[in-house]
Amino acid sequence: MIHSIGVCGAGTMGAGIAQVCAQAGFHTILFDVDAQSVEKGRAAIEKNLTLLQAKGKITDLEKTNTLNHLFITSQLNDCIADIIIEAIVEKPEVKIGLFNRLAEINHSETIFATNTSSLSVSAIAAGVMHPSRVAGMHFFNPAPQMKLVEVVEAKQSDRQVVETIYELAKQLGKTPVLCKDAPGFIVNHVARPYYLEALRLIEKGEADIESIDEIMEASGFKMGPFRLMDLIGNDVNYAVSCSVFEQMERPPRLSPSPIQKEKVDKGELGKKTGIGYYNYDKTKL
Ligand code: NAI
Repeated sequence: MIHSIGVCGAGTMGAGIAQVCAQAGFHTILFDVDAQSVEKGRAAIEKNLTLLQAKGKITDLEKTNTLNHLFITSQLNDCIADIIIEAIVEKPEVKIGLFNRLAEINHSETIFATNTSSLSVSAIAAGVMHPSRVAGMHFFNPAPQMKLVEVVEAKQSDRQVVETIYELAKQLGKTPVLCKDAPGFIVNHVARPYYLEALRLIEKGEADIESIDEIMEASGFKMGPFRLMDLIGNDVNYAVSCSVFEQMERPPRLSPSPIQKEKVDKGELGKKTGIGYYNYDKTKL
């Protein structure tokens, strides 16, 4: 039974995941190495709750209860929970290091779930002290709104661990889908050409960003590829492109675009930095 949830990383995903967990009534610890990020994460959650309250979607009491369930920290030692959901930087060695440090201070049944977008969950599990307690729990952006959660079974995952994560996703009001540990799982695998083909058009000067987004949105997609990349974060999207490309043994059609690398090198990461393929008014974010 899960009573407490430790969410690691208070960025775009971590803050959203922590909000979902606290709203569902779980004791939620939101941890980030960076004290400013953790404060920003809490402020983002409070702002979201205020918006929900203003729209009549939650009551005053629900907002207060959610905030009462949320504990924020920049001290790793506070991160003691029945399940850890990590949403930190998309680098396997950093994720493995975090899980191992947390395994030393948590109880022997604690589950380690990774929100990785595209890294091999089995490769992460292989580096962790208790590989059978590792599995993927992949939320989508923005986590409070998006219903889908991919529950990724690593080669080493204990069946019970996968089932517990699946049940937890349901308790969080999400729609879990079981997946194998394939490159990009399901959604990031299927969606990769959506971004890359749009980028190829830009590379060749055959269309402009706004037109591509407008056409795709007019044809029924909720967001055009560039608006979506800016929402995801261009660093995250580039890391996913590289990871899927490598894991699939470098098929030319999935080769990452130099434009993605250029955006990352310039720090134009999208909405979170105020500039990406579009400019964003930071005061309104
Ligand atoms: P982000 O860049 O917004 O936030 C990452 C946070 O992790 C930062 O606040 C950073 O200070 C913190 N951090 C870095 N190393 C840490 C450590 N060792 N311990 C604790 N905190 C640490 O990144 P974002 O977009 O939230 O992505 C996080 C993870 O979620 C990545 O694995 C990404 O692939 C995955 N993901 C991202 C999605 C997106 O649309 N952005 C969607 C689904 C999954």
